[in-house]
Amino acid sequence: MDYKVKDIGLAKEGEKLVRWAEQHMPVLMGIRKEFEKERPLKGIRIAACLHVTKETAVLIETLKKGGATVALTGSNPLSTNDGVAAYLAKNGIHVYAWHGNHDKYYWCIEQALKINPQITMDDGGDLVTTLHTKRQDLIKGVMGGTEETTTGVNRQRAMEKNGILRYPIIAVNDAMTKYLFDNRYGTGQSSIDGILRATSILLAGKKFVIAGYGWCGRGLAMRARGMGAHVIITEVDEIRALEAAMDGFEVMPMEKAAKIGDIFVTVTGNKHVIDAKHMEKMKDGAIVANSGHFDNEINVDWLEKNAVEKKEIRNNVMEYKLKNGRKIYLLAEGRLVNLAAAEGHPSEVMDMSFSNQALAVKWIVENHGKLENKVYKVPEELDREVAKRKLAAMGIKIDKLTREQIRYMREWKEGT
Ligand SMILES: NC(=O)c1ccc[n+]([C@@H]2O[C@H](COP(=O)([O-])OP(=O)(O)OC[C@H]3O[C@@H](n4cnc5c(N)ncnc54)[C@H](O)[C@@H]3O)[C@@H](O)[C@H]2O)c1
Repeated sequence: MDYKVKDIGLAKEGEKLVRWAEQHMPVLMGIRKEFEKERPLKGIRIAACLHVTKETAVLIETLKKGGATVALTGSNPLSTNDGVAAYLAKNGIHVYAWHGNHDKYYWCIEQALKINPQITMDDGGDLVTTLHTKRQDLIKGVMGGTEETTTGVNRQRAMEKNGILRYPIIAVNDAMTKYLFDNRYGTGQSSIDGILRATSILLAGKKFVIAGYGWCGRGLAMRARGMGAHVIITEVDEIRALEAAMDGFEVMPMEKAAKIGDIFVTVTGNKHVIDAKHMEKMKDGAIVANSGHFDNEINVDWLEKNAVEKKEIRNNVMEYKLKNGRKIYLLAEGRLVNLAAAEGHPSEVMDMSFSNQALAVKWIVENHGKLENKVYKVPEELDREVAKRKLAAMGIKIDKLTREQIRYMREWKEGT
């Protein structure tokens, strides 16, 4: 058994977390039961690059029960839970991940690729990119892959457009039962969880600036408002900006928001959204965090080079003193604050995201011969199946269309 984790002795601690997550992931646990019986992934080798959280462990064990052999690496240097990694390593998963593996991040990805994967499972696209650049020799054996997040899907669509993508990818992020819940309610709640665990500040009455009014930004805005913050949105897309304004939020450019904000969170998937010119204008004591996939949304390099003083004043809070005498507090190195400073998304939303992942992997195994080297959506019937099972697990029943209603919906003659 090959693996590299921080401390295998932490496995018991990790197991408790995993059991807790299982209790809150009824849909995925139902799929696990079916996988155990049907073994749809028998003999399949999967390399996964995902945040190593308790929920990920529930997914990985489900794939294993389905017959797969799995190698797992983390998709961010600060998102691995060392207890969970140890638990998985002890239970037959090739895990290469530990919290703070900055220098070895790509080494870990390369170790996971040693499994010679038939399926890749990515969160952000680093695994797919590594395969397409450094390990092209392995690509011929790959049936397909799945992608968990917006940034990864954007990267893989760019690869498809440039004719570089060499195997089919299922954009799990784009399933309705993923982004409508995970990105919105998951990122919304857990980003605030991360900010509060790191800083312990009061949100009520604070000016809370959110860059990006996509699915994550909407969820975050909704939750920050719920805690009494005065929410300001910055956007580059006119439709989203309009939507934010009509949802009742103040909308303005970052240059203006920089001067008045108390807390800033980027969730755009874009680069240097908070740049030097913004940080120079911020008030003394401004708190800056990121919940987008990569740590380049805030220009942390500029802060590192231009601060006259830097000190860690709490876990996950770095104080930077600027030349103008003002202090800026950067959370979790500008990495995903919900994963680095808290536990990532609650299990209930990951239940749906990871059910899509499990069903998408099974679908690739069954259909890869018919697929081209493109980014595909999760088939709608799978997406709706996840929604049906989640409703059932929540004890919620809904109405059914009557025959008359079905006929009426297809009709064009009946009017006023
Ligand atoms: N923290 C997490 O656990 C988590 C979960 C899901 C997604 N993500 C990541 O969060 C990011 C956003 O995801 P999403 O699903 O909301 O994407 P999205 O595409 O729905 O929204 C992004 C928004 O940012 C806006 N934007 C782009 N550049 C901007 C700029 N310079 N200033 C202001 N706004 C700008 C876009 O117009 C868009 O409305 C991605 O990187 C995604 O991978 C993180």
